[in-house]
Amino acid sequence: MTKFSKIALCALIIGSSAFFTSCDDTEETKAPVELTLYQKLGGTKMVTDPNDSSKKIEQGRLSFRSVVDTTIVLIVADIVQDKPGNFGAHFAPLASEVFGPDMNATNVARLSKNLTDIFSVATGGAATNTYSGLDMVTTHDPAKNPRMGKKVNDAEMTKFIGYVGMAAAKNGVTDQKIIGEVVAVLESLRAPIVQE
Ligand code: HEM
Repeated sequence: MTKFSKIALCALIIGSSAFFTSCDDTEETKAPVELTLYQKLGGTKMVTDPNDSSKKIEQGRLSFRSVVDTTIVLIVADIVQDKPGNFGAHFAPLASEVFGPDMNATNVARLSKNLTDIFSVATGGAATNTYSGLDMVTTHDPAKNPRMGKKVNDAEMTKFIGYVGMAAAKNGVTDQKIIGEVVAVLESLRAPIVQE
């Protein structure tokens, strides 16, 4: 290659990279893609399951499962301490299974799984999570679901959302924007759940 053609080639390469850089600049002016809540909480990235180190779990699902399990603990703690407005009457059928002679925790585990599924599906994780529990009206109607001890009223629904907020904070979710989005998802389910 002659000296001239080498210089010409270099000029061409520099020129074309400047062209592509300017294309990138145009891309940057596009509106950023908004992440789903599921993605903001870790999405589909696989991590070791802290409950079973031989298994992997999606970080988004793990975030919800942690918040769900802490929510259940907070609800049970208030029942055990007989705090005013506790959900003892609602959870009486499940409690009698757990504290009965068989100490059967199957339906508590089912509750944790189904709550984790419904939160994951409702927040953008539907491609990798499936909710297979009862619909929200049937679940929360004691006439149709024998594991539901009492109907839910508006104040109890608000208290439940407060439990979820506390559970989120206990699991390190403190970003107010993210908490606001979680609350909005829960609020979207208020109508079918509140039946009293
Ligand atoms: C947005 C708020 C809520 C959501 C998303 C929700 C969702 C669910 C789901 C998915 C289940 C399991 C359904 C199944 O196993 O087929 C369930 C069960 C239950 N929920 Fe809720 N719930 C909410 C609020 C409440 C509130 C406020 C109470 C009571 C104060 C309550 C009491 C119960 C009880 C006692 C069960 C156990 C019934 C069973 O094992 O089938 N829930 N809920």
